[in-house]
Order: sequence, then C-alpha cells, then structure tokens
Amino acid sequence: METPFSSSQTYIDEFDPLDYYKTYYHPEEGALTGEWLDFTLRNFHETFTLGGVKGDLLIDFGAGPAIYQLLSACEAFNNIITSDFLEQNLAQLQKWLRNDPDAFDWTRIVKYVCELEGNSDNESCKKKEEKLRRTVTKVLKCDALKKNPYDPVEMPQADCLISCLCLEAPCKDVESFTNALRNLKGLIKPGGHIVIQSALNCTYYYVGPKKFFPLAISKEELEMAFKEAGYEIVKIKVTPVLEKSTDISNQDSYYFVHARKPCS
Ligand SMILES: C[S@@+](CC[C@H](N)C(=O)[O-])C[C@H]1O[C@@H](n2cnc3c(N)ncnc32)[C@H](O)[C@@H]1O
Repeated sequence: METPFSSSQTYIDEFDPLDYYKTYYHPEEGALTGEWLDFTLRNFHETFTLGGVKGDLLIDFGAGPAIYQLLSACEAFNNIITSDFLEQNLAQLQKWLRNDPDAFDWTRIVKYVCELEGNSDNESCKKKEEKLRRTVTKVLKCDALKKNPYDPVEMPQADCLISCLCLEAPCKDVESFTNALRNLKGLIKPGGHIVIQSALNCTYYYVGPKKFFPLAISKEELEMAFKEAGYEIVKIKVTPVLEKSTDISNQDSYYFVHARKPCS
C-alpha cells in the first residue's frame, strides 16, 4: 500500500492557523508547549549565544503562523525575513507583527526565552517582543519545492537560515527533502549557517480535525540528505519524545541539525 502524503493543495485548502495554534501552542492544551518548545528554544538560545552564530540577515523558512523560533535570533541578527507557503499563515504573522489585539498571544513563550537569557521581568519580555517586531523586515511567501523558493522575489543571501517542523510537510520522499535542502543552499552565503529543527519518524499529525501526512524521515536519512545536498554538518542532536499524544501526532523524537554551506 502506498504511504499517504498531503499535497500542497491539501495544505492550501485545509491548514487552519487558528486550529494549529489551539492544537500545538495553546498555553494549557498545546501539544508542543512541553518537550518540543523546551528542546527547540534551548537549542536556538545556545546556537545564537555560546554557539556564536550571528550576523546581518537571518531567513526563517516555513514559519507557519509562529514566531517562537525567532525569539533568540532577534538578539543575534540585524534583519530577519520570515516566510511561509500559506497565505493564511502569513496573515497571522502580519497580525502579530502589527500588534493586532486579535493576534495569537505568545507571551508565555516569550517569558520562557527571556528566562533562558536571564531577564524575565515583564519589562524585558515586552522589550523582546518590540525588538522582534522591529527586526522582522519582511514576511514573504516561500515554496520549498521551487529551485528559487522565493521566486519571483530576488533574495539577498543570508548569514543563517532556520526552519522548524517544515520540510517534512512538502517533501514526499528523501530525494525531495534532499532537493529542498539544495534549494535552500542558494539562499545562504558561502560559509553561512543552516539550523533545522523538526520531528523524526512522524507519519501523521492533526491540525484541529484535519489529518496531515508528512515525510517520516529517520536520523540516518536526515544525515545523508544534508551530506548529499553538500553541507558540512556541525552538530546533530536527537531527543526522544517521552510524553506521547498519538491522538495528535506520532513522532518518536525531535532533531536539531546545525550545518554550514561550504566556503567554496
Ligand atoms: C507543521 S507546520 C510547521 C509550522 C511552524 N514552522 C511551526 O514550527 O510550528 C508545517 C508548515 O509547512 C508549510 N509548508 C507546506 N508546504 C510547503 C512548501 N511547499 N514550502 C514551504 N513550506 C510549506 C506549511 O505552510 C506549514 O506552515
């Protein structure tokens, strides 16, 4: 039997950002507010402080309707371009950026990152939100399956590109995942960084009542994809999922990959 896979059209028709917030990032009920955010936010914090990854431009690829992945980055980069494939997600990102009262409330997660940075009083958290809003200079549509993922927009090359829980959505097999990594390479300066964090061996996830089928990638396939796409791997970390909620999604672990585009 063929493995089910959600097409781009399914994402366009069925991915509801408000259901996505509720399912994954709601402060009390969200399925990703525990282990995932703990893993991913600590990794970004370490990468952009002790790891010394910093520069002028960071591209955030496939943000969905989310901003949590940028809370450490905005202290290390002068400009951030964020992006997603879906218009409905871009609209939610714009809402948060213009401080619309209807925007999703990320304050609990902002506080968590401020705690990692050692300043979690209300004033520091407010300042971080303002800094992120100032640092994000563009919100663009992207498509991982295109050779130039921002076509027709001409992109400046970035010092660093990040992406969370994204590439397994559009890529139906490991070959397509490897090609998407090659496409992203064109967006990064020689010697620049790429940081991808996501889930391993996940065959389905729900967004509200809708079921989506991503690529269930293994650690071995992931490493191979980065090597074949021509990156130099700096660090890989994998952490098992302990609090399983298989009625929502079935990943067995989360991964962090930090790699570099070779200088020549
Ligand atoms: C599970 S969501 C992840 C959202 C967010 N990055 C997060 O960390 O919660 C999967 C994302 O993949 C995006 N996506 C689907 N097809 C895509 C494509 N062809 N190119 C880029 N992103 C795509 C969807 O729009 C959605 O935002």
